[in-house]
Amino acid sequence: MSNKQGFISGLEGVIAAQTRLSHVDGQRGELILAGYRVEDIAPHASFETMVFLLWHDRLPDAAELAQMHSQLVRWRVLPTAALDLLQAAAAARRPVMDALRMAAGVCDIDLPCGEEADRCGDYALLARLPTAVAAYWRLLQGMTPVAPDPALGHAANYLYMLTGAPPPPARVRGLETYLNTVIDHGLNASTFTARVIIATQSDMTSAVTGALGALKGPLHGGAPGPALEMVFAIGEAAHAEAYLRAKLAAGERLMGFGHRIYKVRDPRAEVLAAAAEALYTTDGDRALFELAKHVESTAVRLLEEYKPGRALQTNVEFYTALLLYGLGLPTALFTPTFALARTAGWIAHAREQLATGRLLRPAAEYIGASGRVWRERATPISSRS
Ligand code: COA
Repeated sequence: MSNKQGFISGLEGVIAAQTRLSHVDGQRGELILAGYRVEDIAPHASFETMVFLLWHDRLPDAAELAQMHSQLVRWRVLPTAALDLLQAAAAARRPVMDALRMAAGVCDIDLPCGEEADRCGDYALLARLPTAVAAYWRLLQGMTPVAPDPALGHAANYLYMLTGAPPPPARVRGLETYLNTVIDHGLNASTFTARVIIATQSDMTSAVTGALGALKGPLHGGAPGPALEMVFAIGEAAHAEAYLRAKLAAGERLMGFGHRIYKVRDPRAEVLAAAAEALYTTDGDRALFELAKHVESTAVRLLEEYKPGRALQTNVEFYTALLLYGLGLPTALFTPTFALARTAGWIAHAREQLATGRLLRPAAEYIGASGRVWRERATPISSRS
């Protein structure tokens, strides 16, 4: 059936799964998370509430929320094997995403076996990856990791483990809005990766570790750092147009713009721009926010001039960069923090795939040579120098 369709570059438009988790409408600029519009739920819910919603397809009551919190608290501490790996990675100055991928692979080392391990594994991955990122960041700076604080929620505890100080409520709200906004997004590359892996009836650790690898690339989750660097390189509004023109004329891509699905402004950019504005108004450099807005509008105008008809608009990464920077996170932690949110979505998709999906096994169109004839040679190929 699908063979007749022929090769579709990048699988664009191919429907490879059914999901109740999120719906992305790229023409209308709409993102629905388990039935809620992202702009209605992300700025208000706690991250734990969003995780429960994705994992159970309904909002939690107070007792269920408390239960989610205690499960996450239970699994926050890293196994020694993960800490040892992080120390070795820090000594080798590996990028944070590489260290996270290594730590993710051993997060299940001390889990009970059997069915309970399955459920614990979901909580352990979600709870331990923030501890790994924070611990690794501190090790890279020559500092001792900070133990998790069981009294703090998921987002607050992450900020606390990074800095060692209790975070102000405005920053916790800003981070929760970010985590909620990017928690899930249809069948993006990393989510697809997680579903492909779990569909072989592999395990959750493998699915999440593979997804981390897919997220790392700059065409997926790796763009916010470069997007912010571009704003800093521009420095002041008067330089924006010349700087962006030079990049486009050289055939370079502007980081934080363009999307495979969205042909209007990414609704997540809207939510994150509002969150960034709220943060920068009370706690941060308002001039930087104004500069970013100017860079954004100039970029969108020039993209239409250089790439007419491509409908290249602001994507989630642009305001991610501004918001996370305002929260005090260094650019090296932007993609890892994205991963911490998306882990909840990967796990939800993997469970959905296990429950309802089949082995994912597409076909390839063969375009290689044909009719080649093998003949024994006087000198075997393997022994030639
Ligand atoms: N800046 C300049 N040109 C861009 C562009 C950008 N950010 N994004 C796409 N284009 C151009 C391409 O060069 C191409 O032009 P061409 O047809 O003249 O060759 C055209 O738009 C289509 O690009 P294509 O690569 O087919 O689109 P895609 O759907 O595969 O790409 C992205 C989607 C996200 C990979 C792409 O927009 C991009 O690289 N953006 C920058 C990185 C980024 O922000 N990533 C985070 C995504 S959330």
